[in-house]
Amino acid sequence: MSEQWVVAAKVADVAPGGMKHAEVADKNLAIYNLGGTFYATDNECTHAYAMLTDGTIDGEVIECPLHGGAFEIKTGKGLGAPIFCDIKSYPTRVTGDAVEVNVAD
Ligand code: FES
Repeated sequence: MSEQWVVAAKVADVAPGGMKHAEVADKNLAIYNLGGTFYATDNECTHAYAMLTDGTIDGEVIECPLHGGAFEIKTGKGLGAPIFCDIKSYPTRVTGDAVEVNVAD
């Protein structure tokens, strides 16, 4: 698998239980902190047009601010209607005080 690690956020900017929008490498990402572990997915809902970072985290699920759509944060898997298409999730790592995301296809 190819690798293209980019800095997407500072560790201190994404508190546990929180999330942050990041535009890196021509991608619109959502960076999440679940109990000190970081995850990254595409930020745009696959149903219509909404930013998931405007929604709410419920446990390990991100709920879209519109229409009640939801996805698993760890995998990007869509959790039922009205979501019929998963979002892409990305590997993350922490280097120093930076959250890095592997945006390679
Ligand atoms: S835009 Fe996300 S559920 Fe409709």
